[in-house]
Amino acid sequence: MNTLSSVKKIGVIGSGSMGQALISGWTRSDASIVAVVRDVEKYQHLEGSLGIEVSEDRQVLSTCDVVVIAIKPQIIKEILADFAPFIAPGAIVISVAVGVTTEFIGKCFPQTNQIIKAMPNTPSQIHMGVTCVSGGQGSSEDAIAIAVELMGAVGDVFVVPEAQQAAVGALSGSGPAYLFYLAQYLQEGAQELGLSGELADQLVRATLRGSGELLARTELTAGDLRRQVTSPGGTTQAAMEVLDTQRVGETVRSALAAGVARSMELGKG
Ligand SMILES: NC(=O)c1ccc[n+]([C@@H]2O[C@H](COP(=O)([O-])OP(=O)(O)OC[C@H]3O[C@@H](n4cnc5c(N)ncnc54)[C@H](OP(=O)(O)O)[C@@H]3O)[C@@H](O)[C@H]2O)c1
Repeated sequence: MNTLSSVKKIGVIGSGSMGQALISGWTRSDASIVAVVRDVEKYQHLEGSLGIEVSEDRQVLSTCDVVVIAIKPQIIKEILADFAPFIAPGAIVISVAVGVTTEFIGKCFPQTNQIIKAMPNTPSQIHMGVTCVSGGQGSSEDAIAIAVELMGAVGDVFVVPEAQQAAVGALSGSGPAYLFYLAQYLQEGAQELGLSGELADQLVRATLRGSGELLARTELTAGDLRRQVTSPGGTTQAAMEVLDTQRVGETVRSALAAGVARSMELGKG
């Protein structure tokens, strides 16, 4: 089976926050990397910081055996045609764009059927991300294995059916935002209780970090861990009763459903 060591050149279309996070994981591989950008001056610094090539010339994609698409789904449909003539026959194309199907990308790039959809998240920036990968129709096991290895450079990887991509996007793709939202309100609330901003900030960061690690390292469920903190009649129980009364659990479910619905809309374009 061909794996990452067989990849010679990776072309990245879209070098924003996600594109750069992915590139930073791949600089440790033997593959050379080129970021294809609209404005070379804006991204020139990546040549120094990440040791990659930055180019405005789309033609360079024809030398890439893997092409990664990390541009916003809202514009992807307008601009993919501009890149189509330069994709090499049989190249592996990995798209991280929320809502955009492998079928759509396959239609734009008829010279290859090795189309993979991947749903990473922002902790990929520190190589602690999680990515769900799906092969499109006709994609080979080799192509999926290479995508898994590439995404594995920035965190954990799960292979899922493409039909589940909207749901995993709403969970792990958007998930960091939900936790940061909670962190933001915890910090603000703690300041209202009289803690300094600095102390509240440090306590929130340490609490999320420790709780995340605890959840990751134990076989107990999140519910079990929550119950461990919640003594009957205690302070945590008083706080949890407010969350239950305000139906925060149901609100979280509705938020996930809204993410899935938006993913479907973006897919329809
Ligand atoms: N951020 C997340 O948490 C997350 C999670 C999962 C999936 N994703 C997906 O990742 C993709 C990128 O998201 P992001 O957060 O990284 O967005 P972003 O920071 O806005 O980056 C988008 C990049 O696309 C570039 N771009 C736009 N048009 C281009 C063109 N014609 N040629 C070359 N580059 C072009 C932009 O360059 P300019 O500077 O020239 O505009 C920018 O570098 C999206 O499809 C999103 O759905 C993101």
